[in-house]
Amino acid sequence: MVSKGPVLRLLTAINRRRMKLLMGLAFVAYVASVWGNFVNMRSLQENGDQKVESKIEEAVAPLREKIKDLEKSFTQKYPPVKFLSEKDRKRILITGGAGFVGSHLTDKLMMDGHEVTVVDNFFTGRKRNVEHWIGHENFELINHDVVEPLYIEVDQIYHLASPASPPNYMYNPIKTLKTNTIGTLNMLGLAKRVGARLLLASTSEVYGDPEVHPQNEDYWGHVNPIGPRACYDEGKRVAETMCYAYMKQEGVEVRVARIFNTFGPRMHMNDGRVVSNFILQALQGEPLTVYGPGTQTRAFQYVSDLVNGLVALMNSNVSSPVNLGNPEEHTILEFAQLIKKLVGSGSEIQFLSEAQDDPQKRKPDIRKAKLLLGWEPVVPLEEGLNKAIHYFRKELEYQANNQYIPKPKPARMKKGRTRHN
Ligand SMILES: NC(=O)c1ccc[n+]([C@@H]2O[C@H](COP(=O)([O-])OP(=O)(O)OC[C@H]3O[C@@H](n4cnc5c(N)ncnc54)[C@H](O)[C@@H]3O)[C@@H](O)[C@H]2O)c1
Repeated sequence: MVSKGPVLRLLTAINRRRMKLLMGLAFVAYVASVWGNFVNMRSLQENGDQKVESKIEEAVAPLREKIKDLEKSFTQKYPPVKFLSEKDRKRILITGGAGFVGSHLTDKLMMDGHEVTVVDNFFTGRKRNVEHWIGHENFELINHDVVEPLYIEVDQIYHLASPASPPNYMYNPIKTLKTNTIGTLNMLGLAKRVGARLLLASTSEVYGDPEVHPQNEDYWGHVNPIGPRACYDEGKRVAETMCYAYMKQEGVEVRVARIFNTFGPRMHMNDGRVVSNFILQALQGEPLTVYGPGTQTRAFQYVSDLVNGLVALMNSNVSSPVNLGNPEEHTILEFAQLIKKLVGSGSEIQFLSEAQDDPQKRKPDIRKAKLLLGWEPVVPLEEGLNKAIHYFRKELEYQANNQYIPKPKPARMKKGRTRHN
């Protein structure tokens, strides 16, 4: 066995001490690094926690808003509704009730205390027009196409379902014809089954490009049966014929309102009609486009006047057609100038070539409505236009906030497209 020399023993003793020292230092370093890691992880975790929390907050904020909206809708205040006894309260169906005229009629009949069922396929109408009634115990909204039969129990039917403006009814002429013919037959069938009275929303277009002026209810009209407007004009004419066939043959009580141009809030922004065109153009600083020389005349009634006329006619004993319109006649150019002034717009007036089959004159003779219904329009043109301008301004703001406002599509001309008529 080899014995260790004194030098070796000394070195070993030093190394042992060093080793101990080194081990001690290593232990301290280890503890320090563990502590450091721990502290780092804590701060990382805290940072991470903060990030996660802010992400959660971001995701939850819109949900919170939604919950607030829902809470609001649960506690929604409806417009004031009259109380009617069971005897006076009617069950009323409005086809096309989510459209421009239909939604105002809904408002009136609801506020009068009736039970209203709106039936609409939302072709040109929208839920937003009647959303303030959704959930009310007297109100029902049904998504339904009148071209299909409908089975419900009602006392009165206001049959308004039909596209009403040229771009909308020309978009799909076959569908326009089906709605006005098959749709009207279905509603008359319903009226017959349940013993309801039906009011047809007919139109001054049944007079076509009139040869008599103003037009009274005895005038048979001057309609081009194969022109671009025929699907609507002839559709409404045959709808009237159907009403009187059901009245004579089946004893159904019918009312026929020949409605003249109407305007007001909730009318379609892009329906291509004079009032909406001019208001939109004036608000957007675009030229006001007049087709032809601007000497053709139009008479416009405010929507609340029309609604009062429809209700008066429905509840009257007048079964023959009645004109509902405002006889105050203006040239198209006068309308352009007035709207420009009311909007305070600097837009110029631009003259374009005349549209096909555009009637030269249109003015209702409303003596029958005055005499038999005691009805006449009361809202002055400027007052009505100001309300419509206010509505359009708001709608443009809505649009600017990226909300979708449907534009009418161009007319379908080609055969063989796969789309439901
Ligand atoms: N506004 C006017 O100046 C005017 C003038 C004359 C006649 N009218 C008549 O008054 C009625 C209402 O016109 P408006 O201006 O409110 O038009 P609108 O387009 O705003 O309303 C028509 C409603 O009918 C609905 N509809 C269309 N086809 C349907 C179908 N097959 N089934 C169910 N619903 C359908 C639409 O979605 C819309 O809600 C129409 O019958 C129209 O012919 C209106």
